[in-house]
Parts: sequence; C-alpha cells; structure tokens
Amino acid sequence: MPLKAPEAYELDRSESPAMDHSHDEDSDVSDVDEFDPLRSSGRPYTDDASQPIRSVFDSEKNGSFSKQPLAWLDTQRKRGWLQRWLIPSRFCCVLILLFVATLVLLLSAGGIWVYKAAVPDDGESEPWYPTPRGGTVESWKDAYKKAADLVGQMTLVEKVNITSGIGWSMGMCVGNTGPVDRLGFPSLCLQDGPLGLRFVDNATAWPAGITVGATWNKELMYERGKGHGFEAKKKGINVILGPSMGPIGRLPAGGRNWEGFGSDPTLQGIAAAQTIKGIQDTGVMATAKHYVGNEQEHFRQSWEWGTPNAISSNIDDRAMHEIYAWPFADSVRAGVASVMCSYNQLNNSYACQNSKLMNGILKDEMGFQGFVQSDWLAQRSGVASALAGLDMTMPGDGLKWADGNSLWGAELTKAVLNTSVPMERLNDMVTRVVAAWYQLGQDDKDEWPAVADRGGPNFSSWTDDKEGELHPGSPNSKETGVVNKYVPVRKTDESGDHDALARKIATEGIVLVKNSDSMLPLNRTGKGVVYKAGTEKIKVGIFGEDAFPNPNGNNACEDRGCNVGTLAMGWGSGAVELPYLVSSWETLKANFVEDRYEVTQWRYNDDHEGAASMASEQRTCIVFINSDAGEGFLSWDGIKGDRNDLHPQKNGDALVKNVAEHCENTIVVVHTVGPTILEEWIEVPAVKAVMIAHLPGQESGNAIADVLFGDVNPSGRLPYTIAKKEEDYGPSSGILFYPNGIVPQQNFSEGLYIDYRYFDKHDIEPRYEFGYGLSYVDFKLNSLVVNTRGSIGELPKGRPKGLKPPKMDDSLPSPESALWPEGMRKLKKYIYPYIDSTSDIKKGAYPYPRGYGRAHELSPAGGGEGGNPDLFETAVVVQASLTNLGDIPAACVVQVYISYPSNVTDTDGEPVDMPVKVLRAFEKYYFDEPKRVPVKLELTRRDLSYWDVKRQNWVIPQGEFTLHLGFSSRDLPMQSTFSTLLGLNLRGNQDGAR
Ligand code: NOJ
Repeated sequence: MPLKAPEAYELDRSESPAMDHSHDEDSDVSDVDEFDPLRSSGRPYTDDASQPIRSVFDSEKNGSFSKQPLAWLDTQRKRGWLQRWLIPSRFCCVLILLFVATLVLLLSAGGIWVYKAAVPDDGESEPWYPTPRGGTVESWKDAYKKAADLVGQMTLVEKVNITSGIGWSMGMCVGNTGPVDRLGFPSLCLQDGPLGLRFVDNATAWPAGITVGATWNKELMYERGKGHGFEAKKKGINVILGPSMGPIGRLPAGGRNWEGFGSDPTLQGIAAAQTIKGIQDTGVMATAKHYVGNEQEHFRQSWEWGTPNAISSNIDDRAMHEIYAWPFADSVRAGVASVMCSYNQLNNSYACQNSKLMNGILKDEMGFQGFVQSDWLAQRSGVASALAGLDMTMPGDGLKWADGNSLWGAELTKAVLNTSVPMERLNDMVTRVVAAWYQLGQDDKDEWPAVADRGGPNFSSWTDDKEGELHPGSPNSKETGVVNKYVPVRKTDESGDHDALARKIATEGIVLVKNSDSMLPLNRTGKGVVYKAGTEKIKVGIFGEDAFPNPNGNNACEDRGCNVGTLAMGWGSGAVELPYLVSSWETLKANFVEDRYEVTQWRYNDDHEGAASMASEQRTCIVFINSDAGEGFLSWDGIKGDRNDLHPQKNGDALVKNVAEHCENTIVVVHTVGPTILEEWIEVPAVKAVMIAHLPGQESGNAIADVLFGDVNPSGRLPYTIAKKEEDYGPSSGILFYPNGIVPQQNFSEGLYIDYRYFDKHDIEPRYEFGYGLSYVDFKLNSLVVNTRGSIGELPKGRPKGLKPPKMDDSLPSPESALWPEGMRKLKKYIYPYIDSTSDIKKGAYPYPRGYGRAHELSPAGGGEGGNPDLFETAVVVQASLTNLGDIPAACVVQVYISYPSNVTDTDGEPVDMPVKVLRAFEKYYFDEPKRVPVKLELTRRDLSYWDVKRQNWVIPQGEFTLHLGFSSRDLPMQSTFSTLLGLNLRGNQDGAR
C-alpha cells in the first residue's frame, strides 16, 4: 500500500537538495567533525587568528554557501548580462555598478578575512563513528526485540517514512512523521512542550520550567510532568517536545532560560528526570532538548539573523561533561525516549551533524536508546547528519522553512540505495523510533487507537474551528474534516484537578527574598491591624500593569510574543494558549475583606504623578513589575528573544521607587523569566517585602494570594543568582548581539564557572545567592553525619558489556522498489520517501568525514543509560535532623554542596582546577505537626567525580572532601569532611540554624 497518500496531484521537487553523490556539497561535511584540540587540554577555547584557515572557496565541503557567488557570476555571463551594460549610453549606470561591485568586493574581502579569522581550520569537533546501535541495555530489551521484528518487515520507503517529518503544517501537530499503515505503525504526533500543550485547546498553562525549578520540589516536578503527559495522551500526542534543559542559563539574559529549571546542572538534571518520569509514566514520549549549547537566541540558526551560518558555541570537553551534558545524562538515565539536537554549532560543527555529540557522548557514553530528532530546521545536511547519529528530521522540510524540500525523505532513500548512508544506519534510526514507541506502550490499541478507530490527534495546531484542512501546508490540498474535538483534559476523574496542581506549583515557585519588619504575611481580615483611630477602612493600593490582565485578551499576541498585562509565561514555541488567567488584581480585591479594606488600583507603569498621589494615601502598596523574554523568531519592543538587559521592563524600577517614596509599606512582586537586577530600590526602607514570582502560568493571582496572606508558607528558592550588577556574572556572560564573523563564535571561556560558581571563585557578593529564599519561620539543622559507602576509589568499575543489538537484515532492496507507486496522487510540498527514477541512483565515492573509516573506541564512562552504571551507585550518605523553629506549617529545602580536595592533580601531575563548591543534592521537607524531621540525602560516585579530559573518564580525586549542608549556596551552616584516601567517616559540626 502506498505511503502517505493523501489526495493530491503533482509533486514539485525541482529544487530538492539531493543526498546522492552528484550533490555532495549540500551535505556540508566540513561541519561534521574534525579533531578537537580542546579534548586533550581541557582548556577553554580561545580564538586563534594565527591558525591555518580553511578557504571559503577551496573545498566542496563548504557547500552551496561557498560556491554560490561563482556559480551566479557564471550564469549571468552566459546570459550576456555583463555585455548588455557595456553600451556607452549607459555609462553612468556602469559607473554606479562598478562602485557597487567594488564595495561588494571590499565587503566580501573583509568577510573572508573575518571568516578566516573566526573559523578554525577543519572545525574543532572530534570525529566519532560509527553510530552506536540501540538495543544494548536490559530495560529496553523487549521493546527492541519487538521493534526489530516490525522493522524487519518494512520496505526501504516505509523505513524512510518513519525517519522524516511530512513537512510543516502537513498534519495536525507541529511535527508529524510518516506512518506505515500496512504494519499498523502510526504517524507520530510531536507537540510542544515544555510548559504545556502549544496550540491545543483547553489544556493547562502550567508554571514555566524556571518556576518549577524554584520550587526545588521533586514531587511537584514529577506531578507536573504527569499532568502534562496525561493531557498530551488525551489529545492524541505521542511525543512531547520537552522538558528543556538547554539553555542551562549560562547567560542570565538568554531568551529561553525560563523554559528550563535553573542555572545549575544538578538542579536541571533532577528536575528534568522527574519531569520525564512523570510524562512517560502516562505513556507519552518525552524529549530532552536542546542538545546542546543553544545558550542564546541571537544567531541560533542559519539565516534567521542574517548570517548564513548559526553561532558556534565553543565548549571545552570538561565543561561539556560537568555542566551542559550533565542534565541530558540524567534524562537518559530516566529513560527519555527522545533527544532534540539544537540549532547552533558546537565547536564549529552543527549540533545535528556533530558525531562527537550524538554518536560519542549521547549514544556511546550515555547509552541513549531512544531517537535523536532535529530541532525545526536544525538539520543542515543529509548524509552527514545521518552518519553523525541523527535519527529523525523535523519538521521534514530541510534547509528552508516549509518549502517541501527535505534533506531526507526521498533523498534519504537515494542515499541508502547509493550506499552513502549504510542500510545498517537506516535500520538503527528506524528501530530506535519504533523501539521507543513500544517502550512507552504505544502499541496498545486500547490506549492508543489508530486513526481509523477515531484515534490520532484530536486537535489542530492551525485552527480553532471544529472543521478545518487536513494538510493546511499544502497549496493543492482541499481535504477538510473535523479537526478539533475539544476533548476536556484539565479536570477529569482520571487526572484529578490540574488547575489546583498548577496553583500549588506556582505558589511554591515564588521566592520571598525580602521581608523586613515581618511585613508579610498580610492579614486579609484586617484583624489586629492598627490604623488610625476610628472606623476608617485600611487602604491598600495595587500598582502596575503586571497586576492586571492584557486588555486585548490573554492570548492576544502570537505565541505570547508581547509583554502586555500580567506576565504568565515567556514567548515562543514554549508558550501555550491560556485557558484562563487569574490576575493578581482579581484575587487580591476578592481576598481583602471588604468592610475592613479599601482596595484601589493603579494599572499603569508610566504616569508617575498619579501613582505617587495614590501611593501617599495608602497604608500598604503592592507593586507589580516584570521582565519578559522568549524565542528568537519573535521580538517585542526591541527585545529579540534575549533580554537587552536584566532590569525590570516597562519602567518597573521607576514605578517601585515612586511608590516607595510615598508609601511606607511597599511590597514588590516581580514576575520574571530569570535573574532581575533589583538594586535601584531593594535597600529603600519602605520596600518591606519582595517576592520573585517567576512565570506562574494560568494560576498567577491565586499563587500570589496564597503566599501574601500566609495560606502557604513560602518555600521557593532561587534557581539562579541575583547579582548586584550585570557585570558581576562575569566577562563572558553577556549576549553576543552582533556577529563577530560569518560564523559567529561564542567561546565558553568561563568553563565550569557559571552563576554561583563564578561568584564563589571571584568572591563577588551577590544580592541574593543561588538557592536563597525566605520562609515565615526559621529552621535549624543539626546532628550531621556523613558516611561513605562501598568503594570510592578513583575510577568507576570497568564498562559493562551490554546486550548485543538485535540482528537486522542490512541488504539493499532493488531501486525499483522505491519508485512512486503507480497512480498515486501527490500533495505539493508534502515530504514523501519515493524516488522519481532509478537513474537517480548513482554510485561513487562519497567524501566521508575524516575519521569515518575507523571505528571509535568505546568510552569507559559508558555501558548503561546515563553512563557507566557504577557512576550512579551511592557513594556518600548524608544524615542530619531539621527543626522548624516556628509554630506554623512550613517547608524547607535542604541543600548539599561539596568541595573537592585541594591541590588535585591529574596523571601528569598537572593541577586540576576545581570550583569552590558545587550543588550535588537537595530535598524539600514539610512540617505539619512534628517540629523535627530526619534528613537523608545520598550522593553518587558521579557526584564526587570530575571529568578527566586525559583519561576521558569520571575520576574521584583522592583526598579530603568537604560536604556542606544548609539552606542556600551561601548559607551552609553545617560542614563535614570525608576522605577518599582513608575511607574515614567524620562527624561534622553539630548544629546550624538560620
Ligand atoms: C523550535 C524550538 O527551538 C523547539 O524548542 C520547538 O520544539 C520546535 N521549534 C517546534 O515548535
């Protein structure tokens, strides 16, 4: 039966980039992999203009970008275009043209110079081939067995169909793969993620990742994932495009930091793993994204920012392991079904064709068993990306948006037939996808009915109407049908109440950073509040646009791409349609008891006189300000994704100062995507309390009221550092706003030192440190005992062998089998796997990337999901007791940091630099009645290790470690030491209070 055969007429494929040998240059092999000088040194990369340079014009490796100018001139010559202008009457035009041409030449000379200066010879990423095959770990064994059986029955085109998206807006979801109806394998629906279900009706608008990170609550992380997964399943979504753990937050102004959980690998890793477990326990596949180094929006992808190439994030091997890849390892260990490679280049090789990243670190070292999908148009080559470990291209269209020309689809069919992509690689790609589908139980026909049985996606990303087009992206499709079934998902008997859960998370994600004179909690009844004698009502003023809804509607701006009204989430693909949005004005007005309070509003940020005069009449003023950011395809008020600075937006600072000058009890609420500088007013005595409320989603106002009135004792902790000034984050912490070359280069020269690690190293006092947050009570820790477990020798046990991947038939079918089925009607722009003619199949020598011919040795750090299983064995047990010193219920986050032994040296006796301390574990404890609870946390071998770039393994430095237990990265009242040399278990100091 023909695949993907919607009604259609003709296929326009004239400009399709090919994968066969005649079009090798489109594969951009140059960016695949070359030797990485960083690997052996571990030093951060620095620009070295003296390096030998790859010429823009001298190699087919540079692809269409380099060849285009010459080809263009050639064509024009053939057309006689130049001659036509050499006519005397047009002399002045010739002069102008000459001027323009000279300018262009000068500019291109400059461009070539800049390019040469900026791009190191042959890239910097080590080649890692071939792609390790899936099916090597016990927990995926059954899924792989079933997958191998099913894939074994598939034809070549059927296999290709599964690896390639069908094109932007060709199906109901933001990503749709081709089905194999004959064998009952469905088209997979992939949908954003990670904050909720994008473009989906009546789904929960959850608090954003950064808010979830601020809860430091593992159970809520899991529950949110589960709620997200439940809703996805009910809407017929197979794969959620989340959680996000990259960007990690290296740059405080990074536009998409808010989609992830905070600026620390341990926090990101734990939150991501909990989210993944929650999502996947419902049977929906999760996607760990964006792998890796997409730390800013500017220049994140080719052409979007005017540069032909995406930015290169230049990351050294140690920082890659200890910071950026760390949360992905936790995700893989949690069994994540999919990983999304990012737009940017990594050490001058595109992340989606970087074999070191995908074949090496992800599939070998981390033992990833699922499939790698590209971010949308992040794939920049056909053969090269397949060889480097990409398994699925999304949304199917290749180098350009929605043009129907795929780098895979029919091109992959050709590449397999002409042997440039080995059949073994294609078999592995498909088996990985199908195995993930089995692993999540999506073959269960009762749980996941087929489209024919009214299954599949029951919403449309492209219309809110009940009926709509089935393939809206195709210019010649007229097919329509019922596309939106409006299935309720937020509150069902099965799911419980997601609105209530969202409120709980938003509430716990609020971080109280200042509360002088015990200003909070407020008393909603007015009882006990002394205010002038007499019967006058107590006056409370609510100030600032952020307390009120967007007057044009909650969903007025596309993908929430504007900052108008209260800020519930950032913008971009990670935003969702709000089913409702509770504003703070609504809840506060309703909460203050009417016959005791008079609540007044000032809903502007700008009119200072009016605000001042209203403020001077109030007993208490609550000021709402915010700071927004988002994904780079949208911009608002000059903010092109990344924030331009870290200050509150829309005159927020001025509003606070103005109100506080006239109102002696001022409370400030900050809705924000990340670190916000508070210095202009934080020390003003009238500013009594400050709440960092992050991005709460639909339950915004309710969460504020919960904390403000003390119904919930605040327990959020900062998932990043708030500095006194932007420069305090370090010289490499700023966004690269202007390209510094044709391939913009961003050197992660700070290595391991992001966020609090940088502040610690340089002894900089932050305004509020990572992990900080207040409660309405105090806590005390005591009786710290630290025990080491098992062996904590330098190296983990040897890599376990693992299972043999299933046997597959790797022989090639006849090219005829891949031809268009006779009589099949084709949709324009739709991505199909069929070839037009067998003469398309030309065999020849494919210019494989360097290193391709030699099998890379396997990493000693691998051998299980997440890495060598020994890395995840418990090495240290931390016990203590925690007391709530107050007399009300409360919750407290206990944090464990470790400091490595001093003077660590490597095998050559060279010093190994170590951060002052790193977060390695945390737990949140709840107090209802008992005032004292036991604390128990465990650290693994990996937690004690550093990545040794010479040994290419995780190594525990031998010597004395210090373990710090406490309430933030700077409030660590308890310490203990333990030695890896002597195996000694020492007792720490006996108590520590806050
Ligand atoms: C691009 C974004 O970077 C990614 O996070 C998202 O999942 C896809 N677009 C699909 O919307």
